[in-house]
Amino acid sequence: MSRSVVILGTQWGDEGKGKIVDLLARDVDAVVRYQGGHNAGHTLVINGEKTVLHVIPSGVLTERARCLVGNGVVVAPQALMKEVEGLEARGIEVRSRLGLSPACPAILPFHEAMDRAREAARGSRAIGTTGRGIGPAYEDKIVRHGLRLADLADPQRLKDKLESVVDYYNFLLVNYYKAEAVVLQAVADEAARLGEILKPMFTDVTGDLHDLRAAGGKILFEGAQGSLLDIDHGTYPFVTSSNTTVGGVLTGAGVGPRDIDYVLGITKAYTTRVGGGPFPTELDDADGRMMAERGVEFGATTGRPRRCGWLDAVAMKRMARVNGVTGLCITKLDVLDTFEQVKICTAYEGVDYFPVGAEEWQSVRPVYETLPGWKSQTKGLTDVGGLPSAARAYLDRLEELIGVPVHMLSTGPERDANVILQHPFSG
Ligand code: IMP
Repeated sequence: MSRSVVILGTQWGDEGKGKIVDLLARDVDAVVRYQGGHNAGHTLVINGEKTVLHVIPSGVLTERARCLVGNGVVVAPQALMKEVEGLEARGIEVRSRLGLSPACPAILPFHEAMDRAREAARGSRAIGTTGRGIGPAYEDKIVRHGLRLADLADPQRLKDKLESVVDYYNFLLVNYYKAEAVVLQAVADEAARLGEILKPMFTDVTGDLHDLRAAGGKILFEGAQGSLLDIDHGTYPFVTSSNTTVGGVLTGAGVGPRDIDYVLGITKAYTTRVGGGPFPTELDDADGRMMAERGVEFGATTGRPRRCGWLDAVAMKRMARVNGVTGLCITKLDVLDTFEQVKICTAYEGVDYFPVGAEEWQSVRPVYETLPGWKSQTKGLTDVGGLPSAARAYLDRLEELIGVPVHMLSTGPERDANVILQHPFSG
């Protein structure tokens, strides 16, 4: 019977989605990206070898899954090809398994230039973007003058569309941001060259997914970033420019709500965030430093140190509802193994309703509940029976507060370091 599972992050990204996608992808027909771009960094460790993927779905390291990139993903052709070639150099077959929607908005050099110029102009109010041109590329899609991958593969269309867009960007870059202009001919030549290379990988991703579903296939939708970075439901404006919540699957891949059978919410046992913006449970003390150190909390894409804090059950409950989360996968529980006590934020003071944007988020005063730490090793655990009782109590309390059962635990970076209580594909 066909089954479709969505994997998404419930926090600010970096919850450990890539590893879980890779684990569940072993047995599926397709792994699909539906939003975001190469701002994502999915770290996989297989046989001790680390791979960081940015655009290519994390299913690529499995034997047979097709890797599909839906229309909701913004694609930087150069970055994508660098990733393809990097995998090929390691003997991994990519091109025959990768399917790109020709409707994906293209990220071109002027998007990156604009992203960086805007961030510089924001000064102390910078969002802390990854500088990959994500925001400007989505902006062009909404404004309706953006180029799609299909345009890159058609020299005449490319020329017609690029001229006016480059003209627009250069005017802004030079006159408003006092930044350097991009060179039209260089951009056009490179885009045309890459368009040719990408063309054989074009496919009707939406149609392919409908066919797979009808044929009883198993499909895994791979979210990027996290729910609190959602353009609508996150800590606006300190968010990314796509819908990272479950609605992004529908628009970014072209499937209906009844095509989703299960939503796995990946949740780190504590909280991290890279970039600027509100973070009510952030710690600036020894506990926060211990989380950063034990969790090796550095951004996979930019290498920036991640901010750390306690788990926020108020935000998690909200995100569980927004996403219709079926089950939770708690990751990095072992990072808390050495703590005397662990805390959970159970309520917000200072706000009357769930914060709608950065200003309201800044007013939040977290209320904590303190639980005893387990002070023993959970790293590498594969059997729920081996879980220390205090760790079990922590997870039980999370389930209660968030209102969703814990179905999986990730107990280390290795592929097989997991406890599976209920498998998302067995339903
Ligand atoms: P952008 O997506 O590059 O525009 O960045 C907007 C915000 O999202 C910044 O705070 C980034 O740090 C954050 N962000 C984007 N991608 C990721 C990710 O994959 N993990 C964590 N944070 C991310």
